[in-house]
Amino acid sequence: MANRLAIILAAGMSSRMNTMLPKVLHEVCGRPMLEYVLDACRAADIGKIIVVVGYGKEQVIERYKDCSDVIFVEQAERKGTGHAVMCCVEHMADFDGEVLVLCGDAPLIKPETVKTLIDKHESENAAATLATTFMEEPFGYGRIARDSYGNIQGIVEENDCTDEQRKIQEVNPAYYCFDAQTLLESLDEIKPNNAKNEYYLTDAVRITIGKGHRVIAVTAVAAEDCIGVNNRVQLSEASKIMQGRIQAKLMDSGVTIMDPPNTWIDVRAEIGQDTVIEPFTYIHGEVKVGKNCRIGPFAYLRDDTTIEDNVVLGVFTEVKSSTLKAGVRARHHSYLGDAIVGKNVNVGAGSITANFDGESIQPTVIGDDSFIGSGSVLIAPLKMGDESHIKPGTVVSQDSVNGFGDNGGGA
Ligand code: UD1
Ligand code: CA
Repeated sequence: MANRLAIILAAGMSSRMNTMLPKVLHEVCGRPMLEYVLDACRAADIGKIIVVVGYGKEQVIERYKDCSDVIFVEQAERKGTGHAVMCCVEHMADFDGEVLVLCGDAPLIKPETVKTLIDKHESENAAATLATTFMEEPFGYGRIARDSYGNIQGIVEENDCTDEQRKIQEVNPAYYCFDAQTLLESLDEIKPNNAKNEYYLTDAVRITIGKGHRVIAVTAVAAEDCIGVNNRVQLSEASKIMQGRIQAKLMDSGVTIMDPPNTWIDVRAEIGQDTVIEPFTYIHGEVKVGKNCRIGPFAYLRDDTTIEDNVVLGVFTEVKSSTLKAGVRARHHSYLGDAIVGKNVNVGAGSITANFDGESIQPTVIGDDSFIGSGSVLIAPLKMGDESHIKPGTVVSQDSVNGFGDNGGGA
């Protein structure tokens, strides 16, 4: 394991999100923003990750307390990004490796970018390496100030920009790699003399340069990888980009998605080869879909669901916390909740499991090769044997199934 430490800033209160939830726990395609940043660090072989927490710290710690590579440092008062890093000094005091500093509100960061940052930092023997990107609309981001030779001079925050600087389109995504000891020296000199009276980490760049150390940039980072989420409009933009990545990956792995803009698939979902996802399908949560299935249009697959191979789910079919074994067909207007549906079962139009009795959720088990006639209500808890045959329009309860043997409802 390389001698690297990452600090992820996640203490901010995020007034622009207008939220009670810590910003970094807001989800992008089913996963908290912070988790994408943690994963990018892990992919870059970073053994120890410090997450700086503050606003809503209990919730962040509760969520990630079991990650053995993560430690939490509290920033009790939020005095800026530089101050957040200052809270970690004891972890850097005897450390002579590299410190990556990233923000928990940048979920689109790519592991490749982190790797490139580290590689360039090492191969060019820099004291600090930052990523930069060009944005059509740089509003809100720190601008990269360069001299007439193109050398980086520092980073200027939106509120501190002159009119001229505000036009600069090269911005700071806040992905940095520092030598620990140089960073410590520079942190000492950061002052809150700016429009917001905060200790800005961005000032460490100017200070490091001022000390005669080498500061370089990785400039080829795509703008969309660098979006920082400060409000809910940006959250939706980041989610849309992430959705595109999730779908592209699935299509590469052999899944057909007929109408990508009108399909939503959770990052946690797994879908097998040659499965076709028809328009207006929403897959949310931990959902596994096998091979050669046809899902949708207008299907809704929810958390904790396994769909085996060759299953056909059509319009307005909702499935939750269920296992549908190979060859199941539920083509029209069904709800299957907390059910185990056996092989090759045909669920007729409008048939549902009534899984909630007003107090608790109850399971339904349908044996292999059964036929559920249209418009049937299966009242859970219910267990039906193989080859059960339910007439259309039947209300099936455990009593009726027992009464009719395994062929509840009569053939
Ligand atoms: C920051 C950068 C800006 C950059 C942008 C990229 C500074 C001063 N500015 O601005 O140059 O273009 O990110 O998205 O660094 N945080 C703390 N403690 C604090 C303040 C912030 O942990 O006291 C955390 C926040 O939770 C957030 C991250 O640091 O995850 C960035 O803070 P934020 O307020 O979003 O900074 P920006 O204004 O976006
Ligand atoms: Ca931000």
